[in-house]
Amino acid sequence: MNVHKFVLPEIIFGNHTISQIGDCCLRLGASNVFIVSDEGILEAGWLDKVVESCEEAGLKYTTFTEITINPKDYEVEKGREVYLESQCDAVIGVGGGSTIDAAKAIALLSTNEGHIRDYEGVDKIKHPLPPQIMVPTTAGSGSEVSPFSIILNTEERKKMTIISKSLIPDIAIVDPETLVTKSTHLTVSTGIDVLTHGIESYISLAATPLTDVHAKNAISLVGKYLRSSVASQYNKEAKTHMAMASLQAGIAFSNAILGAVHAMSHAVGGRYPILHGDINSILLPHVMEYNLLANPEKFADIAYLLGLKDHNISNMEAGKIAIHLVNELIEDIGAPQKLSELQVDDSEIAEMSYTALHDACMLTNPRDVTVSVIEQLFRKAW
Ligand SMILES: [Fe+2]
Repeated sequence: MNVHKFVLPEIIFGNHTISQIGDCCLRLGASNVFIVSDEGILEAGWLDKVVESCEEAGLKYTTFTEITINPKDYEVEKGREVYLESQCDAVIGVGGGSTIDAAKAIALLSTNEGHIRDYEGVDKIKHPLPPQIMVPTTAGSGSEVSPFSIILNTEERKKMTIISKSLIPDIAIVDPETLVTKSTHLTVSTGIDVLTHGIESYISLAATPLTDVHAKNAISLVGKYLRSSVASQYNKEAKTHMAMASLQAGIAFSNAILGAVHAMSHAVGGRYPILHGDINSILLPHVMEYNLLANPEKFADIAYLLGLKDHNISNMEAGKIAIHLVNELIEDIGAPQKLSELQVDDSEIAEMSYTALHDACMLTNPRDVTVSVIEQLFRKAW
């Protein structure tokens, strides 16, 4: 029997759970917390809620909001300086995937010397990290449960993937209420990211029965609730199901890793300040088409999870319908379908393909790829 390894933080899920953050910090022994967030979360009022809860718990705190999308190496290094000056003893991240990835990278640098780029790859961390509590506000990245932090190397214009069990937060607080302040564009983009996490982790070479159950539920929830979540900012039922979808997709990919969509998406995102989910939306159907041959049975499952009822067809036929259903969802919610729409320059295809081939996510893609296969997939997506 193969060995299965499965890791998870403590998870607190439910409306208004954001107000439990102060107590969570106390339980972890913190007394002076470093709160990483961004301007959008500050404006939406969620940072105030976190601060209020910390004050009620009698904690000292410092806020740091200098994080932008696709977080940069110099931003997390600035975060370390402020953390050390403030003599904090725990890190809270409140925001989307960029903010949470940055918060985890700051936690890493707070006890480990050098540049953030020294930690690119698997298990490079040498010293234990301070306690980490993450509050996702976008129902997308899954970073609140994952062992990854994706940080932009601004010199080389590439996204670095840092992987370590030390980056799995101690506590993830998922409060679906926070999703009501999200813009429609962000709901579309992060929703497709969740679908991509579900699909890529389900067909990953590292998938196990422990990850499949979460990946399947995430795919099914996205199929049922992403459209209504995009249609209304205040549809709480849809938001709650999308928060669960995001969490379960995060649990699945934290343990099964991802595939070619993410490897290619990281290569584009390293060069252009485009939302990660927007790039995934364009690449996902093309990569699915390429990967279908590797696992028609699982592709057929995806079709049934997305609503196919006819069981009298072959797995290959059902798998093709899965791709059609994904395309239909992308079209219905108005997600981007061509890289040229996002002003990506096609003269960079060769370089981006080389970068994608060497991304850690490519190792678990179910079908073998080469640079020329990636180039063809990029050209199809143009
Ligand atoms: Fe993603």
